[in-house]
Amino acid sequence: MAAPRGSRPRVVVTRRIPHDGIALLETFFEVDQNVDDRPYSPAQLAERAQDADAVVALLTDRIDEAFLARCPRLKIVANVAVGYDNIDLAAAARHGVAISNTPGVLTDATADFAFTLLLASARRIVEADRHVRAGHFHGWEMMGFLGGDLAGRTLGIAGFGRIGQAVARRGRGFGMHVIYQDEYAAAPEIEEQLDARRVDKATLIAASDYLSLHLPLLASTRHYIGEPELRAMKRGAYLVNTARGPIVDEAALARALRDGEIAGAGLDVFEREPAVEAELLALESVVLAPHIASATVETRSKMALIAAENAIAAVSGTTPPNLVRA
Ligand code: GLV
Repeated sequence: MAAPRGSRPRVVVTRRIPHDGIALLETFFEVDQNVDDRPYSPAQLAERAQDADAVVALLTDRIDEAFLARCPRLKIVANVAVGYDNIDLAAAARHGVAISNTPGVLTDATADFAFTLLLASARRIVEADRHVRAGHFHGWEMMGFLGGDLAGRTLGIAGFGRIGQAVARRGRGFGMHVIYQDEYAAAPEIEEQLDARRVDKATLIAASDYLSLHLPLLASTRHYIGEPELRAMKRGAYLVNTARGPIVDEAALARALRDGEIAGAGLDVFEREPAVEAELLALESVVLAPHIASATVETRSKMALIAAENAIAAVSGTTPPNLVRA
């Protein structure tokens, strides 16, 4: 049941978020937080939010026409994420509900994690850790756990926004050559600074030794990496996905890894989260993480604060600083 309305505006926070965000919301709203931290079902979410002025949502919430139609007071859904593919923007516009996200503050944490996955898969660290724990380390071996080099290799970046560029910066630090594919060319000074060259998709796929995905999930980017792309990659290449699961055809990736069409992969996101393609679980050549690229104490706290600021702005009648336009 939704809590009875008081005199203050009401916000529903759909899961647990860092305290800083809640404290800021409490200065303005009557806060109804789902402290169980299990996603509400669509019916529960609509029931809790039916008389809310604002919803602070997570990417595990589906904000669609059916939900919005049941929440006539709603002014804003403040998503605590940079991505907003969980939200039907056209339906929100029809209902006059503002949508906001949390760009910028998670750029470095996410880029760090993309690089963590890149290094972890290239240097087989998770597999090596399992080996030691299983008591199989019987002394140094010349031929054990051979992986891939970074220096002098080509780092391909699909999607050259804030996070893609931050990954490029890290790649430069490791002595890699950077190429990228994006609908838009980066400013010449950025290309120069990062020594990054814009290429078409076919070149990106064929030339990358490491391919890191930083695209938003759109109809046009669904299965951006599928069977043909995996076939066209170098046999020694590694794929990293910290963007959205459906950008990669997960079943095709599992087959490509099994058949040795590429050397390895690092995945933080999955096509049908929280499910993971069963075949991937059995493969040593893939490092798997539970969608944690932005999960640092400071970053998650900043994300919660930004969402709270956006919710307060919209309900106060001002433009939310991180308004997403349909
Ligand atoms: C996380 O996946 C985000 O979009 O912030």
